[in-house]
Amino acid sequence: MKKISRRLFLGSVSIVGTGMVLRPGSIWAGKRGLDAKPALLGGEKTVTKRFPRWPFVDTTEEKALLGALHGSGWGRRVKNNAADNFEKNYAKLLGADHCLTVNSGTSALFTMMGALDIGPGDEVILPVYTFIATYNAVVLHNALPIIVDIDPESFQIDPKKMEAAITKETKALMPVHIGGSPANLDAILEIGDRNNLPVIEDACQAHLAEWKGKKVGTFGIGGAFSFQESKNLNCGQGGAITTNNRQFMDACVGFHHQGAVLSDNAYAPGGVRGGNLRMTEFQAAILNAQMTRLEQQAKKRSENAAYLNKMLNEIPGMAPAKLYPGTTNSAYHLYMCRYDSNYFSGMGRARFIEALSAEGIPCSAGYGQMEKTPRVTALAKSRHYLKIYGEKTMKNWLERIQCPQNAKVSTEIAVWFGQTVLLGSKTDMEQIAEAIRKIQKYAKEIKDKAV
Ligand SMILES: Cc1ncc(COP(=O)(O)O)c(C=O)c1O
Repeated sequence: MKKISRRLFLGSVSIVGTGMVLRPGSIWAGKRGLDAKPALLGGEKTVTKRFPRWPFVDTTEEKALLGALHGSGWGRRVKNNAADNFEKNYAKLLGADHCLTVNSGTSALFTMMGALDIGPGDEVILPVYTFIATYNAVVLHNALPIIVDIDPESFQIDPKKMEAAITKETKALMPVHIGGSPANLDAILEIGDRNNLPVIEDACQAHLAEWKGKKVGTFGIGGAFSFQESKNLNCGQGGAITTNNRQFMDACVGFHHQGAVLSDNAYAPGGVRGGNLRMTEFQAAILNAQMTRLEQQAKKRSENAAYLNKMLNEIPGMAPAKLYPGTTNSAYHLYMCRYDSNYFSGMGRARFIEALSAEGIPCSAGYGQMEKTPRVTALAKSRHYLKIYGEKTMKNWLERIQCPQNAKVSTEIAVWFGQTVLLGSKTDMEQIAEAIRKIQKYAKEIKDKAV
C-alpha cells in the first residue's frame, strides 16, 4: 500500500517522530493517559457509555403517526396528504423544483432508470464502492451494470475511469455520493455533458450534502435518496427522487404509479412501463416528524467530523477520506477514514478494528469487493443476460469490472464510523482519537497476541 503522504502527516511528526511525551490532561492523553493498556491487552475500555441511539423519537412522531392513522387515507388519496407535504418541504430544503416520494432508495434509482427508458442492451456506469442496491437497480432493468473503480483517497468513483468505461451502449452515469460526501461532481457532470449522457445521482446517503453551496441530488437529471432506517433521515423504509426537470418528473411519477400518464411528453419512445413504488402516509408522517431535527443533527455531525478530522490528521497512519474541493458540506452518513498498517507495526486492519471495537467504539471495515461477490459474478451466467448480451459480452464484462483500487481500499484501508457516532459529544470524538493512539502505541503487542 502506498504510504500516506508526508504533507498529510506533517503535523504528527513533531509528536510521534520525536518520541515527545504527552502531558496528562492534553486531549490526546485522555482521562487515563496513553500509558493505559488497550482493552484487548486487558486494559480498561476507553468508552463505556453508549453512543446515541438511532433514530431519535419523541411525541412529534407519535402525533404524526396518529394523524396519519385517523386521517382520510393511508395511501395518499386525498389532497395535502403527509407525502405531499414532505415532497414540498424536502424539495424546498434541497433547492430542487420537484420531489417524488417512493417506497425505498432502490425504488428511487429504479424509477429514474425506468423514466429514462433504460432496459435490455443498455449499459449504466456506477462505482464499485457502494451498497449493492445501486447495482441491483440496474439489473432490475436487465441493463448491464458497468462497475468502475474508485479514487483510493476519497473512496468515490474515479471520473477518469468512468469516462473510459463509456461505450455506445451507455445510457446513464450513476455516481454515488458515498458516505454522504459528494463525488467529484464537476468532473462527472462535464463527462455527462460531453458525452450527452444523463447523470443520475445516487444521493441515498447524502441528505443535505453540498457541492459548491448547492445540495447534491439537484445537479444531474435526478437524485435518489433513501430513508431506510440507518439513514440520516429515516422512516424505516422509504425513498425520494429530486429533479429540476418537469418532464423527467412526470415520467418518474408515471413509472412509480402503474404507468399513469400525466403529460403528453412524459414518456420515452419505449412506451409506458410502471409498477407500484409508492410511499404510504405512515412513512411520510414519520419523515415529516424526523425532518424537524434534520438540519440540527446535520450541523452536529459536521462539527464533530471537523473536530475528528483535526485529531485523526495528527495521528500517523490515520487520515479522513479525502473530500473534493467543491465539497461545502458532507452529510457524513459514514465517517470514512484511511488506515495505514505501516504506522501500526504492520497490524492488519481487521485486528485494528477488533482493537478499536474492544475500546467501545463502534466501527467497521465497510464495503467489500462487490465486483467479486457471487451475487455479482453470477450475472455472467444468468440465463437472461446470456440471452440478451451473449457469452462473449458477459465474459468480457467480468474483465471490465475489475477494480484494483477497490481491492486495496476494501480489504486493507477503509475504516468507518457510522453517523450516530458523530451525534455524540466532543469528548466522544476525543476518546476515539485517544483509543487509536493507545492502540498505535501497543500495536506490536496487539498484533502478536492475535490468535
Ligand atoms: C448508496 C446507496 N444506494 C442505494 C441504497 C438503497 O436504498 P434503500 O435501502 O432505501 O433501498 C442505499 C441504502 O441502503 C445506499 O446506501
